[in-house]
Parts: sequence; C-alpha cells; structure tokens
Amino acid sequence: MQKANVYKLPSSGEARELLRKKGQFWTPDWAAEAMVDYVLADKGGTLFDPAVGAGAFFRAAKTIEKKKGLHITLSGMDIDPTALEQAIQQGLTRDDITGVKINDFVFHPPQEKLSAIVANPPYIRHHRLSLDTKEQLKRLSMQNTGMILDGRAGFHVYFLIRALTLLEENGRLAFIMPADTCEGKFANDLWRWISVNYALDAVIVFASNASPFPNVDTNPLIFFIRKSMPKENFLWAKCHESQTDILKMWVRSGFEMTPTKGLTVTQRKLSEGLSTGLSRPLATGKASKYILGDFVQIVRGVATGANEFFFMTAEQVKQTDIPNNYFTRAIGRTRDVPTEEITRATLDLLEAKGRPTFLLALNGDSIENYPESLKEYLKKGETIGLPQKPLISQRKPWYKTESRIAPPFLFSYLGRRNSRFIRNSARIIPLTGFLCVYPKSDDKEYTDHLWKILNHPDTVANLIMVGKSYGDGAVKVEPRSLEKLPIPENVIDQSGMQTQMRLFESKTPYKT
Ligand SMILES: C[S@@+](CC[C@H](N)C(=O)[O-])C[C@H]1O[C@@H](n2cnc3c(N)ncnc32)[C@H](O)[C@@H]1O
Repeated sequence: MQKANVYKLPSSGEARELLRKKGQFWTPDWAAEAMVDYVLADKGGTLFDPAVGAGAFFRAAKTIEKKKGLHITLSGMDIDPTALEQAIQQGLTRDDITGVKINDFVFHPPQEKLSAIVANPPYIRHHRLSLDTKEQLKRLSMQNTGMILDGRAGFHVYFLIRALTLLEENGRLAFIMPADTCEGKFANDLWRWISVNYALDAVIVFASNASPFPNVDTNPLIFFIRKSMPKENFLWAKCHESQTDILKMWVRSGFEMTPTKGLTVTQRKLSEGLSTGLSRPLATGKASKYILGDFVQIVRGVATGANEFFFMTAEQVKQTDIPNNYFTRAIGRTRDVPTEEITRATLDLLEAKGRPTFLLALNGDSIENYPESLKEYLKKGETIGLPQKPLISQRKPWYKTESRIAPPFLFSYLGRRNSRFIRNSARIIPLTGFLCVYPKSDDKEYTDHLWKILNHPDTVANLIMVGKSYGDGAVKVEPRSLEKLPIPENVIDQSGMQTQMRLFESKTPYKT
C-alpha cells in the first residue's frame, strides 16, 4: 500500500473540523480496488467518480486496467480543486484528471447516463447543512424518489440517490458510506425506493479492527448495486482483516469464490436484510417474544443546557456557598463510570479527582425565595446570557432544571468502551451521556432478576440490532430503540424473572 493512500488523522482539531466540512477522507487502495473491480465488471469503459478527491478510485482503475488489459476512461467531479492537486501528488498525471469537472455533483450532475459509478461521497451530517441546502435536497429527493426523506439524512445520502438515478440499464455502482445510511430514521424510505428499482448485489461491512478508516468516528459499509431487476437475495460479507487482498479477490471472482479467511459471506433475503438493517448481521436463533420495554421504561438523562454552570465540583459548591439541599448528586460522563456499578465510593473517587458530581436541582421558585448565595449565582448566569441559550430559553423560569427520580439502572449509550448497563446503587441522577432505566416494578426481587437480564452477554450482544453504529465498535442507542431491544428467551429463563412477570406486568411505579 502506498503511504499516501493511508488515511492520516489530522494533527489538530482544526484540521479535522476542516476535513469534516469538506468530507475529505480518502479510501485506502485495498477497498478502492474491490469497488472499482465491481463496477467495471471486466468490461472497461468510462469510470465515473462524483467525488474524486485525491483520486483513490482513479489509481485503482489504472492498476486494474494494467492487470486486465482493459481500456478505461476516467471521468468525475469534485468541488475542491486543491484535492485534485493532491491526486497529482499521489501519482495521477494531469492527463488522468482531464475528465474531472470542478462542480457540485448533487446540484450540477452530468447530463448523460453512466455505466460505472464509484464513490466515497463526502460524509456531511445534516446539522452541518444550511437550511437553504436542506430545502434544495428535499426538492431533489421529491423529484427523484417521489418522497421527502427525513431531515436527518446527510449529504452522502443525496449523493447516492443522485448517482443511482444516473445509472444506465445494467450500470453498476459501488459506494462506501457510513452505517447511518441504513440505520438512520430516513433509512426505511431510502431502501424501499432502492430495493424496488435496483438490484442489491452485495453489502460489505467491516469488523472494527478492519475499518478502511481507522480512528474515524464512522462505521463504513460498501454497497454494490446494479440498475437491473431487483433480486430476492443479496450477499452480506464481513471483512475481518484490514488491508486484505481477499476482498478484491472475492469481488474479482464475481462473488463466486468461497473465502476461507479474512472475509465471511452470508446469503440473505433482501426482505430480512431491510427489516434487520443492512449494517447488522442476520439475526441468529429464534425471534424472542420479549423486548426490554416489557420490563422497563427508558428516559434520557438530564439535559442542563450549560453543564459548566449547573454541574459543579465539590470545590465549586464550596466557593459559591450555595447550600447542599439545592443540589442532587449526578454523573455526567461515561468515562466517569469505569465499572458496572455506581457506589458511594465512585462518587468519592470522582470528587477526589476534581470531577463534577453536584447538579443544581431547582424547582423554579422565584429567585427572591432563594438564599443570597444562590441568588447571586443565578444573577451571574443571567449576565453571561444563559437565559438566551437554545435549550435553556425554552424553560420557564430559565434556571428550573429537568428533574428525574434516581433510576435503579443506567445505560451508557455511546462511548469508546462498549455500551453497557450500570447498576445505580448510589442513586445518582445521570446527565445526557446516559439513559435512565426504570423497572416496571420496584420490588427488590424483580430488580435483581432484571439486573441479571441486563448484563447477560446475550442481551448486550443484541444492542447492535437496535443501535446506530459508529467507529471503533461504538453503538449509540436512543431511548425508544432501547425499549425495542430483543431479550432472548434463554436469558429470561436463566434470570428467574418468569415467576415475577405475571405479578408486575401492569405496574409502572416510576414517574419522571
Ligand atoms: C470522502 S472524499 C473521497 C475522495 C476520494 N474519492 C477517495 O475515496 O479517496 C469526498 C470528496 O468529495 C468532495 N466533495 C464534497 N462535496 C462535493 C460535491 N457537492 N460535489 C462533488 N464533490 C464534492 C470533497 O472535496 C472530497 O474530495
């Protein structure tokens, strides 16, 4: 592998921010060659890359051209001319890039139909798009798919739609995309449209240690799609080795070869893949009749709108002189809970480290009724403009904080460490890094059985079935999705919960 093609982590936060804005993460050779091989289908012709960047796919095409004796014409687009300079530095000639137009692919696409499209589109999440761009994308989606996708679809999703509409009959497309393409709110609509208009040949996912983009907070997938009659089945392959040759060998064999190592391939029904989510493995075992929501209610942790003001260290509490009864104990970061249980000792340790654990808990009384120290502190909040901050401005009065009953369990829903359940023995209140898990009964035995269910490895293994996946194996699970977590029947049997279930089915003692 040439050094230049390896993804380099930007050296500073600023550089990374710039990369994010432009969506410039280069595809490594070992993945690029497999993708180009698929779209060329041993035929040669014109290869179109709508986001050429430093030219990973063009270089791959030149390698394949030489190897197979094909004649390939390179064509493409990019909005950033400086990226093309990098393409030259990384081994392409000026001739190779004469067919690249500097323009926006989504809003100024080529007029002709295309037979081979390959891309690593810019992954630009929706909150980075301007309102005006979002409006234009809505119109584009309506014109091309007949529907408006949920507003959380990122720019890359519209790249895919645009590219699919440009495919000629039997034309092929290979896109490397973040997993939100099949896990986001918009994904059902998107894939319903794709699956009735195109043939999905294969989906490639990567084990976290084999990601083509190591150190990037994205779980990438490759889609191989043809403009042809939809098929009932598709191939789902998981790549376990980074920089492996096996991926391109498998693609080169027309998916005929049975890989012995580095890649596992499963044939799946399209209907099953779409309902499970294409980024997720085929669910093995019997479908369970239980979901987590049968036993618990889930509510997100407290959002303060300004942690630096509402969430204090012991030292800050002392300095402000606000009486203790205006605080509740809380935990803000997943990293602050390295174990499976939060105890008094966890809080003491955090306090000793100077981490905040005191959350201002104000019920919205008139400021005049508060002690002087608190009045003074709130006035300070007003002078620094807190009442105008987005989340805070919706509260009346602005300093009235969200309240929660301390949940017996927490769920740490996104972190470098695996997502997991935590027993809250210290009865703290969690901030938004966690979800609150409230059992449907406060009976001690019920809670003990539930704990066995929550930290059973088979329960935890199912999190990928309901969560959104990011880089490094991190999974983020929203409250409503967590309630849908399937609980395997063997887990229920082993927990001893069955005897309790009938007794407590309708009770919901925790109100938040
Ligand atoms: C993720 S990089 C991929 C580049 C290269 N194909 C690769 O895989 O290494 C995406 C590229 O898209 C370009 N880009 C961003 N927005 C674009 C747009 N609207 N139209 C065309 N190119 C765009 C960026 O400048 C960047 O070079």
